Amino acid sequence: MEIKKIPFAKGELTVPGDKSISHRGVMLGALAKGTTNISGFLKGADCLSTIDCFRNMGIDISVSGNDVTVKGKGLRGLCAPKSTLYTGNSGTTTRLLCGILAGQQFNSSITGDASICKRPMRRVCEPLSKMGAKIKGDFCPLEIEGTPLHGMDYKMTVASAQVKTAILLAGLYAEGETTIHECEKSRDHTELMLSAMGADIEVNGLDITLRPPKELCPAEIQVPGDISSAAFWMVLGAVMPNSSITIKNVGINPTRTGIIDVLLEMGAKLKIENRRICTGEEVADITVSSSSLKGCEIGGEIIPRLIDELPVIAVAALFAEGRTVIKDAAELKVKETNRIRAVVDEFRKCKADIEETDDGMIINGAKPLYGADFCTYGDHRMAMSLTILAQRAEGISTLDDAECVSVSYPGFFEDFYSLGK
Ligand code: S3P
Repeated sequence: MEIKKIPFAKGELTVPGDKSISHRGVMLGALAKGTTNISGFLKGADCLSTIDCFRNMGIDISVSGNDVTVKGKGLRGLCAPKSTLYTGNSGTTTRLLCGILAGQQFNSSITGDASICKRPMRRVCEPLSKMGAKIKGDFCPLEIEGTPLHGMDYKMTVASAQVKTAILLAGLYAEGETTIHECEKSRDHTELMLSAMGADIEVNGLDITLRPPKELCPAEIQVPGDISSAAFWMVLGAVMPNSSITIKNVGINPTRTGIIDVLLEMGAKLKIENRRICTGEEVADITVSSSSLKGCEIGGEIIPRLIDELPVIAVAALFAEGRTVIKDAAELKVKETNRIRAVVDEFRKCKADIEETDDGMIINGAKPLYGADFCTYGDHRMAMSLTILAQRAEGISTLDDAECVSVSYPGFFEDFYSLGK
């Protein structure tokens, strides 16, 4: 597909619901006893995979527009799946399911698409095995033998909300309490939602303790717009001349706002207004307008707070004066594709000055860029980042697979064109 160019980016929009919260709403809703209503649900392919998996385990889930109703049957209410659970492209579905399935009274198996089958699952299987879990396979397909679990005291070795959440979900079924010590703070949507559903969960800085509840209570969940999707418009608004974009109703949970901190440090004209709390999550409207950006250094504790935004932050760095260094981000190698390699290879096609490092990349910005035939590697965030990059590259650019945006942002191109009208 040829990437159309828009002359400026102006207007107001809302982005689809938060992917992490949408997944958790369905999963915890299915395990609660009673009906959970979710509004603003992300109907992207990944979250639809989560719905399919729980329907396969006998949970009645109805979808109407962006409203989802989950008729939870309680912690022991799941049925043995009729077939192998298929998680598509979704790492979150796959890893979180491991935590839920480990302690069931039935056996199950999980697999996904070609990308999922290459993503490391040992990071969840290893801690879960310390709770007694019996999961075979370091990669999908995984075979899970349901078995009684016990709580544990676990020091995490990787900053990952998926690993943390898998352990907490297993902890719901374990005998005794489960304590996790995070190495760096990762997104805490699971902790917030478990607490809203009545679980006995204590969070103290990097330490989390969960005591297994008898049951979880159902909830009314309003999903805020996904800051990871808003990120594309924040960068577009900053790098396009004569532009100003307001994104309404964006989740600004502090464990997710690294992109805001970085854009402000780069000199972006970014305003946060109308801050409010919505079902336990902070929400606001964000406006970004044309800015003169400068390079910066990104590493350390901020990385888990912006891990999914790094490809589009790298785009911002291309248009920033000076050097941007991204480090401590080796996790990018195990995302939907190796996002360090993919970003470096694709950006180089337009003559960008970018160098790959072991745990990130170094970009010298504000150099002339040229259109190119881009490869997305089937990765939604690569496709959207490259679309933003193409706006300021001279000449024509194409994407080999624009469809993959539907994983997290089905209406991405419609929203994009609307900003140029
Ligand atoms: C997610 C956690 C992150 C993130 C992913 C969603 C989640 O992955 O990259 O898109 O919903 O828990 P890691 O836990 O592997 O960092």
